[in-house]
Amino acid sequence: MEVTDTFAVTRALYQGRIGLLPTMGYFHEGHLSLMDLLRSHCDTLVVSNFVNPTQFDKEADLAAYPRDVERDGELAAEHGVDIHFVPEVEEVYPPGSSTEVTVGAVALGMEGKYRPSHFVGVATVVAKLFAGLRPDIAVFGKKDAQQIAVLKGMVTDLRFPVEIVAAPLVREPDGLALSSRNVRLSREDREAALAISRGLFQAAMQIDAGERDAQRLEATVSRSISRLGADYVELVTADTMEPMSTLNGPAVLAVAAHVGDVRLIDNLSIEWDDAKPKPDRGLILDEPSRLGTLH
Ligand code: PAJ
Repeated sequence: MEVTDTFAVTRALYQGRIGLLPTMGYFHEGHLSLMDLLRSHCDTLVVSNFVNPTQFDKEADLAAYPRDVERDGELAAEHGVDIHFVPEVEEVYPPGSSTEVTVGAVALGMEGKYRPSHFVGVATVVAKLFAGLRPDIAVFGKKDAQQIAVLKGMVTDLRFPVEIVAAPLVREPDGLALSSRNVRLSREDREAALAISRGLFQAAMQIDAGERDAQRLEATVSRSISRLGADYVELVTADTMEPMSTLNGPAVLAVAAHVGDVRLIDNLSIEWDDAKPKPDRGLILDEPSRLGTLH
């Protein structure tokens, strides 16, 4: 029996420069803005939609992950996606496949500490997508700042011939970072979750006013989210994700917190311009997200 290689079948449709947006589906405006950005950088736009089991360390989290491939396909088509690639688990992880990508120091702290096998799962699936789909360029959102650092490291270390582009973090008009998990927040929990972005924006104002002390910046965010269950609030360098004591170069102020039974992450990326820090509050939607609140 001939086994179809859906990766090869997909590649047969290619023309020109290939752009890949890896996702786990259930698209919201954050995903759509990444599609729009990538659309202008490639000829064939591929969006992969695969809820990757190996990056979930809790079975219940994997089971609760929202899915709607049909709706995703329609949204992708509206945003100029040429190929909506939705592989089966057996195609990505065929029986007997056992090779994994080991990740280094960049994956040890923050998400890596609280979700120990997470980044091995992310790096392994993205390596499989890169090798199978062979994009020239791939886009990732700054919402997952540590994920970008891990994947940039992988691409450099393993010499993947793929250009990595980091796209702005998309937020609701009230500041909440868009996430596929937001649909699981009750009305009260959603209100409580606003403390996260509020804290980050307060820290951004402090930075604009000259604050450079990491502890004081972290304390501002911690105070704001004191009613939530915080996993961490950390100022780290943008490339290595190492903790910083003084803000003196490109950085990320990152947060993970539990609201009800939903775990949310958010961050403020701090770029440098003219030897001055420029906190990046992300891209704020004019209208409340239509897709990120559907139950
Ligand atoms: P997923 O959570 O579906 O996210 C797909 C891409 O969308 C990621 O690059 C993520 O950073 C980006 N994204 C999510 N929310 C965003 C927001 N509010 N603003 C901007 N970008 C946002 O991240 C993954 O999937 C997986 O780990 C994956 C890389 C696909 C590997 O399985």
